[in-house]
Amino acid sequence: MQTIFTDERLLEGVNQCAEYPHIDPATLANRILELAAFGKTADGGVTRFVYTEEEKQAKNLFVSWIKEAGLEVREDGFGNLFAKYTGEDPDLPAVMTGSHLDSVPNGGYFDGPLGCVSSFMAIEALMKEGKRPKRSIEFVIFVNEEGSRFNNGIFGSQALMGEITKKELNTYRDKEGVSIAEAMKEQGYDPEIALAGKCEKSDIHAFLELHIEQGKQLELNNEKIGIVSGIAGPTWQSFTFLGETDHAGNTPMHLRKDTLCAAAEFMLEVEKLPRQINETAVATVGKIDVSPNGANVISGKTNIIVDVRDIDKESLVELNKRIVSRASEIAERRGIQVEHEELTKIDPVVVPESIQESIKASCERHQLAYRSLVSGAGHDAMIMGKYVPSAMVFVPSVNGKSHSPEEFTHLADCVDGVAVMKDVLWDLANE
Ligand code: HGY
Ligand code: MN
Ligand code: MN
Repeated sequence: MQTIFTDERLLEGVNQCAEYPHIDPATLANRILELAAFGKTADGGVTRFVYTEEEKQAKNLFVSWIKEAGLEVREDGFGNLFAKYTGEDPDLPAVMTGSHLDSVPNGGYFDGPLGCVSSFMAIEALMKEGKRPKRSIEFVIFVNEEGSRFNNGIFGSQALMGEITKKELNTYRDKEGVSIAEAMKEQGYDPEIALAGKCEKSDIHAFLELHIEQGKQLELNNEKIGIVSGIAGPTWQSFTFLGETDHAGNTPMHLRKDTLCAAAEFMLEVEKLPRQINETAVATVGKIDVSPNGANVISGKTNIIVDVRDIDKESLVELNKRIVSRASEIAERRGIQVEHEELTKIDPVVVPESIQESIKASCERHQLAYRSLVSGAGHDAMIMGKYVPSAMVFVPSVNGKSHSPEEFTHLADCVDGVAVMKDVLWDLANE
């Protein structure tokens, strides 16, 4: 395992940052490090799931920064957090900006928190400069973007826009069997009240999110800003192979109903299929549950989650269709059952040209090299993009690493990102 030394490495960058009024590199670095303390892993990563003490502590810390800035804090029934910088005309639909604070298991410091800190510091910089836009700017921290605890990603933004159902709250469960609704109650949220509230799209003028690229393109081309042109649609499919649990020693090979072997064969098919569709589609099996998971026991039940994505909607539908039929073919040939359930399905979104132009103009103003790119990763911006004009600003990821403790973005790149966010929020809030 590579040694992780994010803290020192981030702070080392304080003197290598460009100077922008009211954007303090040390403040940015310290905020990222302070947030990372909640859910810190032995590997130097972060594990911070929704509706946990770690998440509550990270949110409370952010609330203290919001109050210090003189803004009021509001929380919706699901725990999405809001703070509004009121515009000259508070009745106009506001510009919303933010990201998430939850992480994947043993993830990094930047995926989500950097977006939250950057949106917030962009608003702070406008406030410190005494610049009040026409429209209000509403800062948001979405809950449960990663979906690591309940296998249901990009939850907070879906909840905000009224897409989450009572059934989902009661059926999605974590590995301890706790449902979302139960976890919410444990944290003091009432699912009934949460489901009754939703944000009207007419309340939002546009949405803007900053995120680490989680890829190598910017670093490889020595560029500083990624202008996202589209976001690939993720689907999460659950496949449960049901066979017969049996004795490893006494069961001849031809009499077995081994679900782990079936799942293994299926996983290799999942790996092959995307390239039979096109160059951009991807499919991943990152999670598996084998029971009873005993060395001398043939597994009678194996569950895997398949993550399938593409920027092209038709290809995505076709790929998912082939994956589902491959599962049933393998199960049938092996004389076992397979149960399939679609957990998450979000269509790809395209980012409006107008906001991409505003990001480009800011990059040129600050002489920051940029490129237009598609996001293979999913984000809350893709849910917001279904309702209002939504865009994303990417900053470089060292070695393209993410969802791991090795995730890192140089402080100078983080600071440049805040400067671009400030400009684009100002443009959007004066439209
Ligand atoms: O899965 C994703 O794409 C994101 O990291 N939530
Ligand atoms: Mn992520
Ligand atoms: Mn993220």
